[in-house]
Amino acid sequence: MRAVRLLAHDAPPCLQDIPAPDLGPGQLRIEVAACGLNFADLLMIKGTYQDCPPLPFTLGLEVAGRVAALGEGVRGLEPGQRVAAFTGQGGLAEQVVCDANRCVPLPADMPFAEAAGFPIAYGTSHLALVHRAGLRAGETLVVLGAAGGVGLTAVEIGAALGARVIAVARGAAKAAVARQAGAELCLDSDTVDLRAELKALGGVDVVYDAVGEPMASAALRALHPEGRFLAIGFAGGKVPQFPANILLVKNLTVIGLYWGGYLGFAPQVLTGSLRDLTELYAQGGIRPHISHTLPLERFDEGLALLRDRRATGKVVVTVAPT
Ligand SMILES: NC(=O)c1ccc[n+]([C@@H]2O[C@H](COP(=O)([O-])OP(=O)(O)OC[C@H]3O[C@@H](n4cnc5c(N)ncnc54)[C@H](OP(=O)(O)O)[C@@H]3O)[C@@H](O)[C@H]2O)c1
Repeated sequence: MRAVRLLAHDAPPCLQDIPAPDLGPGQLRIEVAACGLNFADLLMIKGTYQDCPPLPFTLGLEVAGRVAALGEGVRGLEPGQRVAAFTGQGGLAEQVVCDANRCVPLPADMPFAEAAGFPIAYGTSHLALVHRAGLRAGETLVVLGAAGGVGLTAVEIGAALGARVIAVARGAAKAAVARQAGAELCLDSDTVDLRAELKALGGVDVVYDAVGEPMASAALRALHPEGRFLAIGFAGGKVPQFPANILLVKNLTVIGLYWGGYLGFAPQVLTGSLRDLTELYAQGGIRPHISHTLPLERFDEGLALLRDRRATGKVVVTVAPT
């Protein structure tokens, strides 16, 4: 089968023909229709991701496709069924094998391309905003990196929960995308004095940070008492370091959220959240935004779009005709 392989860190990944992976007990083989790209793919290529498999390996953290075969002991799924899965690796290929508990059945009308970019972005924002931060209707949420993969889903879920959402993104085109997803206001990260602007807007209850410094500290300082700061990612490369005295004096909570980590200690939280999200999708409550869809041979263009900050929402690679 064709697969996008990473042979060495800091070397470009390449398309190769390799044998299909073996199927073990409790696992599924999925015929991949599409694979969602993520910022984490870039970190894996560099070798700086927290869950990076040993080299060589096949890239691709999340897929949608059809169940091709069930491993021993798998119940509740059947061959031919349409599913999405958080594979962690191996998804940029014609077939992938993963544990059955990493997979959710899809609503009948959900296209594979939308489903392929769904689990990580929506799952992360849903767990962060609902399960961890307890965002409530009427609260103010500010999203840093608001037009990116995870950021845009935070805007959409925040608005769906009834929060007032302030989006922070670079440039007018990204602001328009965030506004369409439900942001009431958009601030341009290139020009705004974030701390002053957020304070002038009345302050915020929850910060969703996918970017890191220097915006993270500016946003933290605009939090109301009992505000929550969600540390989601550091796409800008600078990890925030918060002084405990500020957290103490303002009664703030900093919440770290690693969505994939839940598979290790509370998988039922993750699958429950994905079930809620697919129901919300089926009811028309969320609409994934994909800025680029590319065929497998052009996977490297997709990675470059993320690296150069040219994507909005998700970039999806199609592997087989749907
Ligand atoms: N905690 C978790 O479980 C979890 C899950 C998924 C992702 N993440 C993390 O969240 C972050 C965003 O991931 P994503 O998949 O949404 O990425 P993405 O689609 O590439 O979005 C990243 C956004 O960050 C902004 N950005 C600022 N500085 C950047 C830089 N130097 N390079 C690239 N982007 C930059 C960009 O917006 P502007 O151009 O508008 O500034 C871009 O829209 C990453 O750090 C990722 O590792 C964490």
